[in-house]
Amino acid sequence: MSTLTRLDEPQFSPHTLNKFATLMAAGNGYLGLRASHEEAYTDQTRGMYLAGFYHRSSSVETTELVNLPDILQMRIELDGEIFTLISGSILDYQRELDFASGELRRRVVWLAPNGKRYQIECQRFLSAAQHSLVCSRIAITPLDDSANVTISSGIDATQTNSGRQHLDETSVRVFEQRYLQGCYRTLDGSNEVVISSFCAVPAESCSSFYAKNRRLTQHCSGKIGKGEAFSLVKTSWIASSLDADYHAQTCSYVTINKLIQCVEQGYDSLLAESAAVWQSYWQRSRVIVESENSQDQRALDFALYHLFAMTPTHNERCSIAAKGLTGEGYKGHVFWDTEVFLLPFHLMTQPEIARQLLSYRWHNLPGARNKASKNGLQGALFPWESAWSGQEETPEFAAINIRTGLRQKVASALAEHHLVADIAWAVDAYYQATRDDAFMRERGIELLLETARFWISRAVDVNGRLELHDIIGPDEYTEHVDNNAYTNSLAHFNVERAKHYLQQFEIKDVYFTRQADDFLERLYVPAASGENLIPQDDTFFRKPTIDLTHYKQQQGTQAILLDYSRAEVNEMQILKQADVVMLTYMLPGKFTAEQMQANLDYYEPRTIHDSSLSKAIHGVIAARCGRPEQAYAFWQQACLIDLGDEPHSCDDGIHAAATGAIWLGAVQGFIGLTVEQGELHLNPRLPAQWQSASLPFYWQGARIHLKLTPQQVAISVFGKNPVTLHLGEKQVSVLGSQTYLLADFFAPVTGSGTTKGAKP
Ligand code: BGC
Repeated sequence: MSTLTRLDEPQFSPHTLNKFATLMAAGNGYLGLRASHEEAYTDQTRGMYLAGFYHRSSSVETTELVNLPDILQMRIELDGEIFTLISGSILDYQRELDFASGELRRRVVWLAPNGKRYQIECQRFLSAAQHSLVCSRIAITPLDDSANVTISSGIDATQTNSGRQHLDETSVRVFEQRYLQGCYRTLDGSNEVVISSFCAVPAESCSSFYAKNRRLTQHCSGKIGKGEAFSLVKTSWIASSLDADYHAQTCSYVTINKLIQCVEQGYDSLLAESAAVWQSYWQRSRVIVESENSQDQRALDFALYHLFAMTPTHNERCSIAAKGLTGEGYKGHVFWDTEVFLLPFHLMTQPEIARQLLSYRWHNLPGARNKASKNGLQGALFPWESAWSGQEETPEFAAINIRTGLRQKVASALAEHHLVADIAWAVDAYYQATRDDAFMRERGIELLLETARFWISRAVDVNGRLELHDIIGPDEYTEHVDNNAYTNSLAHFNVERAKHYLQQFEIKDVYFTRQADDFLERLYVPAASGENLIPQDDTFFRKPTIDLTHYKQQQGTQAILLDYSRAEVNEMQILKQADVVMLTYMLPGKFTAEQMQANLDYYEPRTIHDSSLSKAIHGVIAARCGRPEQAYAFWQQACLIDLGDEPHSCDDGIHAAATGAIWLGAVQGFIGLTVEQGELHLNPRLPAQWQSASLPFYWQGARIHLKLTPQQVAISVFGKNPVTLHLGEKQVSVLGSQTYLLADFFAPVTGSGTTKGAKP
């Protein structure tokens, strides 16, 4: 395997503190830890989050992922000078996140205001092997003279979510003059978290402990000779009442014991144990590209690093938040992002995780049924934003207009219902890729049926035709419209799949089948016109257009809403993100290459890409249209959503869906691996900049490895049975290793940049 890339922070800058705290955040799906520095900075949002650990601080607030007490902050005093990079000078600075091991390392040479130089080296990791474990190490070396060093660190429960406090301190203690422990309970009493820490300090240093103002702190000081290192190794163990093995009476004792075992094992051995888990993850999932642009591999590694970090695999009551576990954006809520943008990666690399993500929705069926019935509908209407309870968590109001003092209503919870069909789409994708009959019988079919029942009850009869009214499609700049093409098409797909699986699994439901047949026959599904254009909704084509150049240049910032009200934007042909283009992505077999092309060309100029979910999908469609150059441009821009130069691109957390979309762009776009009607298709369209691309994946129980160059594809199937693959219009059956010349399957690329014969 080629060497994993790293993410470097080129220099310390107070302007990008939060961006890098997000980009370099650690995570293991159970915990997430922002990469804030050890020393505090006023503008820095520090954060540690536990998957599923939500709380609502008051009836006027929204449920949010709780920012837990801080265990990483350190107050460092060197010969009386407080270490901070905004005083003195930085003589040398390196910070890097090592994707291979998940370790974050920093080395600084600091010239303090007292004129002396100190080297400060910090390392930390969140264990991928023991999900409750956080280790950090700091080594301070005075370079000019001996030095007096004081480090204060502990468990700091003054941490809040932008001022909202969620936790009561129930006990703080120091055991055996060594082990710090803080126990906290959410204000509503529903959850507890227990944090235990130990600091290993030099034998000749002296330590004292204090508990004051929600801080439990250990002060440790000592004198150190020039060129010698004063080091502190901090080991912490975090447990919560969400853990399967949590017992309120014994957790204090049990977690201290776990901590002691880790302390005895030591930093290096714990890191090696964690790195071994990372290594098997990379072997199982890494997409490797040989590209003219080294940034391409880094973007893929970055995306996969975060896909691991954000995904809770320990508890199927948790799913992936829109910002993973890296920040408080969207309050830690779960959106359609999970099923459509993130699940496909897991499905192909570790299908049991995809199953778990679908199980999260299955467990939340009661909330979805409740929302449907509250709206006078049947079946399951999943909440647009979801957390632990499965109830609707979308805030009623969004940002305030400070000129009027009025808050803007959020309409998504009321009308953005495509999520229901997106979940059904993911259930179908899961079954196609796994043939997991047991899951379908226990959970999948129920999800399909309940979502289908929702659509059937949601449709209105207009002179014999069924329509879906008052809808918001994926494009959130166009609200409350009738017959959004994406939603109608996916609703049709949802009901058709429910009926199909009922038949396949020989489940008799005469009433549902009759209703489904009627719905499928009478639902209006907006179709392509003579010019191949699909109307986004009933009124879209009648609306005026404006020049969007200015807003496209500022995409991702919603700058248009500063110049126009939402109501005005709604009355123009302006898209926030892919909508009809998204539809052609979701149901590829339903559209011809000409239709995909025409809609891409029509809608893209009208799309600002203010959502991070947009660019990479446009890239996939451009690739499917046989336009690798255009596809590559979209993909590269998608890779820069978080990684680009914009200093605040991800202050409040990673764009989780965008990381999944980086993988989608490479795998479904360039490598051209897709599933259509349950069959695996490979239609490669490598960009000219790529000499090769390879990836491991699973398909219906077989482990497959694929390596693609512009001339050929080498496929290895590790399993008992051959795997059938559609290469263009032909079929191949592979067991063991086979290499195919692409020229035998695909016509060469023509001068116009379209691949003749390549099936969309
Ligand atoms: C997008 C939604 C997305 C949400 C969370 C919004 O800006 O329009 O499609 O689900 O962000 O990522």
